[in-house]
Amino acid sequence: MGKVIVVASGKGGTGKTTSVGAISSCLAALGQKTLCMDCDAGLRNLDIIIGMTDYAVTDFSDVLSGFIGLDEAITEHPKISGLCFLPAPAFDGPDEIDPKAMSALMEQIRERFDYCLIDSPAGIGPGFRLAAQNADMAIIVTTGDISSMRDGQRVFGELRNMGVEEIRLIVNRVNPKSFRRIETTVDDIIDTIGAKLLGIVEEDEAVFFSSNRETPLILFGNKKAALQFLHIAQRITGARIPLGSRWRPAR
Ligand SMILES: Nc1ncnc2c1ncn2[C@@H]1O[C@H](COP(=O)(O)OP(=O)(O)O)[C@@H](O)[C@H]1O
Ligand SMILES: [Mg+2]
Repeated sequence: MGKVIVVASGKGGTGKTTSVGAISSCLAALGQKTLCMDCDAGLRNLDIIIGMTDYAVTDFSDVLSGFIGLDEAITEHPKISGLCFLPAPAFDGPDEIDPKAMSALMEQIRERFDYCLIDSPAGIGPGFRLAAQNADMAIIVTTGDISSMRDGQRVFGELRNMGVEEIRLIVNRVNPKSFRRIETTVDDIIDTIGAKLLGIVEEDEAVFFSSNRETPLILFGNKKAALQFLHIAQRITGARIPLGSRWRPAR
């Protein structure tokens, strides 16, 4: 049975879609059959990040309505074997989606894949609930920004209330210099949110370039953010990759 992982955040723009695209590409490259699923109905953009806009013709709502089968709605990535993609509806919002049908769909997905990463809308609204209701694990993506951390804390509480037991944290867009200046450490972020750290990803212009060229990050480079996302994917599969001492200042 595969593992369903929802990627969430309190605030928008923290790097959820970037994380889903990068981690799912890495999991596939590690030999895990992986589905990345866009659950940001109405505001989808995972297709752009992984370079599959041409394939976003049908979406998961077509499967829920019985219009097509799951296998017809999913497409494999043209360049990364083992990576599949299931788009979100372009126009329908979460209110049009039946949560029970969604749970049944996730069961089918668990049978077919080793991992399913879900790109959730920001916040704790109906779209987030729909994305998170079937998750075995959640990843909260935050930046070092105070409001992003506080909203991340709310998401953590909400995920706990929904019964998600395994909740991990990615601190994204970390710039060591500015961190020192604002005297915030990654440890403070972890303390604020209360979830165990899954990985730290630094600010990296390759993220911007790869998304603008609609190319998955791992096909774009193997340093900084690309490498850090690979380490995160390896940790998800159970590998013990140290977090790196330079990110854990002495206190
Ligand atoms: N580690 C990073 N380094 C540089 N830019 C990043 C990084 N992570 C995300 N970004 C940029 O931040 C913006 C928001 O990221 P995105 O993944 O779309 O966030 P979300 O899905 O949470 O709204 C995008 O323009 C993306 O390229
Ligand atoms: Mg997004």
